Amino acid sequence: MKAVAYKEFGTTAVLQTVEQPKPTIKADQVLVKVKAFSINPMDWKIRKGEMTLMSGSKFPKNTGTDFAGIVEEIGSSITGIKKGDEVFGVVKNMMKEGVSSEYVAVTSSLVWKKPADITFAQAASIPVVGTAAVTALEKMGDINSKSSILVNGATGGFGMFLLQLLKQRDAKVTAVTSTKGIAYAKGWGADIVIDYTKEDVLSMKATYDIVIDLSGTMGYKTAKQIMKPKARFLNPTPKPIEIPLSILGNLFTGKKHIAILSSPSTRCTDILLNAVNKGLQIEVNKVFPFAQYKEAYDYAEQGGYIGKVAVEIN
Ligand SMILES: NC(=O)c1ccc[n+]([C@@H]2O[C@H](COP(=O)([O-])OP(=O)(O)OC[C@H]3O[C@@H](n4cnc5c(N)ncnc54)[C@H](OP(=O)(O)O)[C@@H]3O)[C@@H](O)[C@H]2O)c1
Repeated sequence: MKAVAYKEFGTTAVLQTVEQPKPTIKADQVLVKVKAFSINPMDWKIRKGEMTLMSGSKFPKNTGTDFAGIVEEIGSSITGIKKGDEVFGVVKNMMKEGVSSEYVAVTSSLVWKKPADITFAQAASIPVVGTAAVTALEKMGDINSKSSILVNGATGGFGMFLLQLLKQRDAKVTAVTSTKGIAYAKGWGADIVIDYTKEDVLSMKATYDIVIDLSGTMGYKTAKQIMKPKARFLNPTPKPIEIPLSILGNLFTGKKHIAILSSPSTRCTDILLNAVNKGLQIEVNKVFPFAQYKEAYDYAEQGGYIGKVAVEIN
């Protein structure tokens, strides 16, 4: 089968189309013919060697984490999924496995039936950022219509899910985005939208109960300026040392620093599918054909898109 793989860390120049054997499955796995996979910032952070503590340095590596496709074969112990089902899912070891190939073998507990009214590219966009958004929501604690929440970097994949989940909680949300994201942020439920290309959220008068930075541009130290005395800062990209330091630091300060580490599960996916049923929109900004995977990664890494970017395989 055709796959995209790399044998050294680097830019998209290291990505190559290679022939790999079609995977064989274990009793608890399904073989899926991949129709689409989505692109996540984690893909290029791993490819560039920025996460070697978790990804290791063993090559070749495939890329991509969440996918959608059609079940081709099921393991002997599997019930509830059958050959021909349209599904979406995620690999078990997001740091070491990849889905950038014509077929993937995956644990059946991380594969779910695709709603009929969304595309393969939309379904492939759910697991990683959708789960992260559910986890972030849960880390916010008891939020209600009086809670003020700042989402910095609100119109990428993670923000798209989070804004819409927050809207269902009736919280007061301020979204920070660039000019082209304004209409999307409003449509997804933000009460106030700040265009970061024109205004600086730090120099405005408001303070928040929750600050979450999805842009990688605002750390906890900076965020403290705009946090209320007992506010929470949610950090989806904690450095390894920040995890124990934040737990220790939180014992001595009202302004809490909380790392978000999410892991897809059926529980989170059920919450997301329920939200999709209630009208949550999945914006896939651009879908590239498999032959243009390098362009897809270059496009996504450059930023400036709304929602998600995906690659389709025919
Ligand atoms: N911990 C976890 O479990 C977990 C899971 C998933 C993702 N993540 C992390 O969460 C982060 C967000 O993920 P994502 O998939 O949503 O990424 P993304 O699609 O790249 O979104 C990032 C957003 O930040 C915005 N942005 C860039 N510069 C900004 C600035 N100066 N001020 C405000 N906003 C700015 C971008 O807007 P423009 O493009 O318009 O500039 C973009 O919409 C990534 O770092 C990702 O690695 C963590």
